[in-house]
Amino acid sequence: MIRYPAGALLFLVLSIVAVDVESRNAVDDVLKLPSEAARFFRPNDVGNAVDDDSVGTRWAILLAGSNGYWNYRHQADVCHAYQLLKRGGLKDENIIVLMYDDIAYNEENPRPGVIINSPHGSDVYKGVPKDYTGDDVTVHNFFAVLLGNQTAVKGGSGKVVDSGPNDHIFIYYSDHGGPGVLGMPTSPYIYAKDLIDVLKKKHASGTYKSLVFYLEACESGSIFEGLLPEGLNIYATTASNAEESSWATYCPGEYPSPPPEYDTCLGDLYSVAWMEDSDIHNLRRETLRQQYELVKRRTANENSIYGSHVKQYGDLQLSKENLFLYIGTNPANDNYTFVDDNSLRLSSKTVHQRDADLLHFWHKFRKAPEGSDRKFQAQKQFAEAMSHKMHLDNSVNLIGKLLFGIDKGTEVLKTIRPAGQPLVDDWDCLKTLVRTFEAHCGSFSQYGMKHMRSIANICNAGIRKEQMAEASAQACVTIRSTSWSSLHRGFSA
Ligand SMILES: *[C@@H]1O[C@H](CO)[C@@H](O)[C@H](O)[C@H]1NC(C)=O
Ligand SMILES: *[C@@H]1O[C@H](CO)[C@@H](O)[C@H](O)[C@H]1NC(C)=O
Repeated sequence: MIRYPAGALLFLVLSIVAVDVESRNAVDDVLKLPSEAARFFRPNDVGNAVDDDSVGTRWAILLAGSNGYWNYRHQADVCHAYQLLKRGGLKDENIIVLMYDDIAYNEENPRPGVIINSPHGSDVYKGVPKDYTGDDVTVHNFFAVLLGNQTAVKGGSGKVVDSGPNDHIFIYYSDHGGPGVLGMPTSPYIYAKDLIDVLKKKHASGTYKSLVFYLEACESGSIFEGLLPEGLNIYATTASNAEESSWATYCPGEYPSPPPEYDTCLGDLYSVAWMEDSDIHNLRRETLRQQYELVKRRTANENSIYGSHVKQYGDLQLSKENLFLYIGTNPANDNYTFVDDNSLRLSSKTVHQRDADLLHFWHKFRKAPEGSDRKFQAQKQFAEAMSHKMHLDNSVNLIGKLLFGIDKGTEVLKTIRPAGQPLVDDWDCLKTLVRTFEAHCGSFSQYGMKHMRSIANICNAGIRKEQMAEASAQACVTIRSTSWSSLHRGFSA
């Protein structure tokens, strides 16, 4: 049994946070992405778009990509989004929810049957449709739902986006991600190229007028950067640029803090920023562009290291439309018009997406009675999560050195392509090498998604499957079999 004194555990947490802090870009290091060369709208144009009640149906897909109580916040975000759309006037038949649904009645949940998304928030779980839950939350079903292909759907309610040419579609996703990839509670994960192909297919089928995609995940900009073309009538915003974390908020021990009985983060910064703004305003009077600017300011978190750079992609001219067109509006907010200097510009103390699980285990450990089984379990979970992370970091590093030499290895793995270029040219290669790595070293799991850029760079350097297999076999002599290696869960590609 591994025994850590409490102080040592805290030290471990702090040193991980410190490492992440160091690896982040300097705040002033503003990225010059094509999305920033955006067309600018004359301020006078903003807010003049017509409300058009008469045409089209509003459809929405809400997807939480994670499971596990330490990921409470992603499902809380998605439940909150449902309540918002419902109050906005969307019908249940037009809102498709994909979430694992293991939070509300989780034994760790201090309020059984209730999910909250902010410290003083009310229940957001009540009434949420259980369209696709548990192992039905798959990338296959997500794509089938979006394409409106009911025969392709496996399990679940069978509800799909059965949209027509005048309809508007809103997609909101919240979870962990990595360069070019979005997590799912099941295998495989969502790969950017596949998602873009599905969006192109949806567009080609002529079954929407315009589509808005709000995306919360680490490195979420990489899903669209250099990949989402203009002309699909899609406007997307992402919680972060292509090379940084997004941030969890309302975390225990931080400010603002969840109620004391919660050992987990309640929300994510970009997500609560757009939802708490939408919650209180007349959305006939607020444009996507206005919300983008507000969410960008709040998510930057006063340009501190605890924030990320919100980005926009696709057909930026759509952003002069009102939010109402996509998410409706709550009639109770009719008199609350968006004002630029919004009261929601509060700063908050956030937690790195990839450390939020450790934070949960740490708080669980700290609070559990001395000598209890609960304390032992929390300690074990913490130690396993830590050692899994170190195992992945070390293995990928070593593979880089084996493939490119001691001097060049790290440099090749860490290379970031110029803005406007996709992560990798050959997405099949990326998937093949991910599977090759996982066959020898165990699953990347949610933390390991951060290494996607390294694997992509290995592809970009022309490494073949056989070479990768050899290097992986050398780097990972034994496959680790802790719960975090999730070998039994299949490949993430
Ligand atoms: C719907 O899915 C089924 C089963 O995967 C497939 O055979 C069919 O071609 C799809 N339909 C359309 C319109 O794409
Ligand atoms: C908005 O203001 C008008 C005029 O003061 C009032 O009649 C109306 O009831 C208000 N609407 C709401 C939803 O509060």
